[in-house]
Amino acid sequence: MSLKKIETLKKRDDLYLPTGDLKKYANLSDKSIYRRANRNPLKFWEKEAKELKWSKKWTKVFSHHPPHFEWFSNGKINITENCLDENLKTRKNKVAFIWEPEPIDEQARKLTYGELFTKVNEFASGLKELGVKKGDKVGIYMPMIPEAIIAMLGVARIGAVHTVVFSAFSPQALKVRLQDTEAKVLITTDGYYRRGKIMDLKKNADTGLRGTKVEKVVVVKRVGNKVKMNKGKDFWWHELMLKHKSKIVKPVEMDSENLLFILYTSGSTGKPKGTCHVCGGYTVQARTTGKYIFDWKDSDIFWSTADLGWITGHTYSCYSPLLNGATFILYEGSLDFPEPDRWAQIIEKYKVTIFYTAPTAVRMFEKYGTDLVRKHNLDSLRLLGSVGEPIDEAAWEWYFREIGNSKCPILDTWWQTETGGILITSLPGIGPFKPTYTGLPLPGIRVDILDDKGKSVKPGQEGSLVIKPPFSPGLLRAVYKNPAKYLKTYWSEYGKKIYFTSDSAIKNKQGLIRIVGRMDDVIKIAGHRVTTGELESAISLLPDIVESAVIGRPDEIKGEVAVAFVVSKNTKKSQKAIQEEVIQQVRKEISPIASPKEVYIVQDLPKTRSGKIMRRILKKIFSGEELGDLSTLANPKTVDAIKKIIRGLP
Ligand code: WTA
Repeated sequence: MSLKKIETLKKRDDLYLPTGDLKKYANLSDKSIYRRANRNPLKFWEKEAKELKWSKKWTKVFSHHPPHFEWFSNGKINITENCLDENLKTRKNKVAFIWEPEPIDEQARKLTYGELFTKVNEFASGLKELGVKKGDKVGIYMPMIPEAIIAMLGVARIGAVHTVVFSAFSPQALKVRLQDTEAKVLITTDGYYRRGKIMDLKKNADTGLRGTKVEKVVVVKRVGNKVKMNKGKDFWWHELMLKHKSKIVKPVEMDSENLLFILYTSGSTGKPKGTCHVCGGYTVQARTTGKYIFDWKDSDIFWSTADLGWITGHTYSCYSPLLNGATFILYEGSLDFPEPDRWAQIIEKYKVTIFYTAPTAVRMFEKYGTDLVRKHNLDSLRLLGSVGEPIDEAAWEWYFREIGNSKCPILDTWWQTETGGILITSLPGIGPFKPTYTGLPLPGIRVDILDDKGKSVKPGQEGSLVIKPPFSPGLLRAVYKNPAKYLKTYWSEYGKKIYFTSDSAIKNKQGLIRIVGRMDDVIKIAGHRVTTGELESAISLLPDIVESAVIGRPDEIKGEVAVAFVVSKNTKKSQKAIQEEVIQQVRKEISPIASPKEVYIVQDLPKTRSGKIMRRILKKIFSGEELGDLSTLANPKTVDAIKKIIRGLP
């Protein structure tokens, strides 16, 4: 059945519901799945797990020793056997992904499941020659090119653990991650394209490697810029692949609870947290969520715009579509380069059927103008997805109307780096869809919204979003080498048996969940997760800076941006010079993506008598909100001074 001619959604009050035709088409349309799965989540997940290839079946589905838990204990699996070998049986010649390079005049590349299988095996064999063994950590610092996916799968095939570091992260950010994981090998490229410019990634990698345990570096020639290759340490990817041509590597049998990857996310201090994801549960969750949420059919062309350096990239720009034998797009560049409508050109060119992006991108598309969208035929689209931050009603409506032509359900997907896969969203064949609500928790996922005392709040009331046992198979098992942080961040707020998400949320009468925002110091800059603590510790490294405080403020396009308040002891430097130094420092220590939008130089920061900086007050000054009682401050006068500075008064 073609979806082109059928009515897909009907509106009832303020809800959008799938029509009978859409229900018929969907992988899941029977509402009773919620009841059944919630009554017995273990049975639900076990049934899903059985659809995968395991070399040995588990002995127990779920065990819980709070705060620790396991899924599919003693099962043996390799994710790449499921992504590749299993697909060879029926989809050898099906395209796994189409790679669209940033330069418009460069040829796209298509890799079939058969070709991907061959490449991953060759690379896995090469990695073995470099001495990588099961359990070893391997860093991946690469742009969005096919080799990045081959690298991730090659590492996983031999039972090693990948840590992907976003290519726009600074050498310093790379270093911290490589030091924490003690990676032995790094895979990178000579460079990459960013809005037409060549970025020297190898140089960044070399700088980041200093002081780490990395012994060998594999370098993909992507842009052909001149790079320094260190003899005995640096190896060209193409030479390694040639040497291992046609080699087949048996997937290494992994225990369900063995590490599959470590992905870092911002910590509340300067040090990022390594979230640990395991082989069994992650694989089950990645496959199941994709199958039901993105509802893949053999004819679909799926495009998740997320970079592989983030969790969305790991799960939905790589593993989940491969586990489901789907065809997807991997795009190297910026969505608005070289033309603002590059993204629409790509949808049109490849007849993308399912498009998954972040609200910040949607707002950017809208800003460029609706006329630009209307130039393109986007009729192929049947589902739209959103992730990473709340999507406001205006952006939702525009996305729905202008991109989806009022016929595509919007899957507003809530999840986190920690959860490994989507946990809350309404399903295409079931719905309902309501602007600003992410939807229902997936079948088998028990979430709740609690007040300070740990009691469930009533519909319509705000509280903290938590996940109750048995959680989800893909939820993180640890913070790498930091059990205290694991316990404190996720399992302390409501005790060791309840996972605390750090998000506040509201449930309506229909059970739909609306995410209000983070309760901790995380800010989402264009969907990228950064903590104010991390920014402050980077800024405080500057010799002239006495102290600093960073807050997030709303931004029309990026959702949120960082604003820094700094106290400088250098009275001779101009304001402009200090501001520039602060911005450069964040770029150097973290990444350009985290750059503060505004930097204010102040004499003092509002503090309590015990010396705690009151960021809340800064936020209120900034937004013009009522400040309330300031008598608890040690230095209430500073508030007026800061107000003047913000308003540009002398
Ligand atoms: C936020 C991204 C509203 C939330 C996959 C969460 C969302 C944090 C949504 C995790 C959504 C994610 N609506 N907020 N649909 N999805 N968030 O680790 O605050 O980069 O805790 O993972 O993003 O961000 P992370």
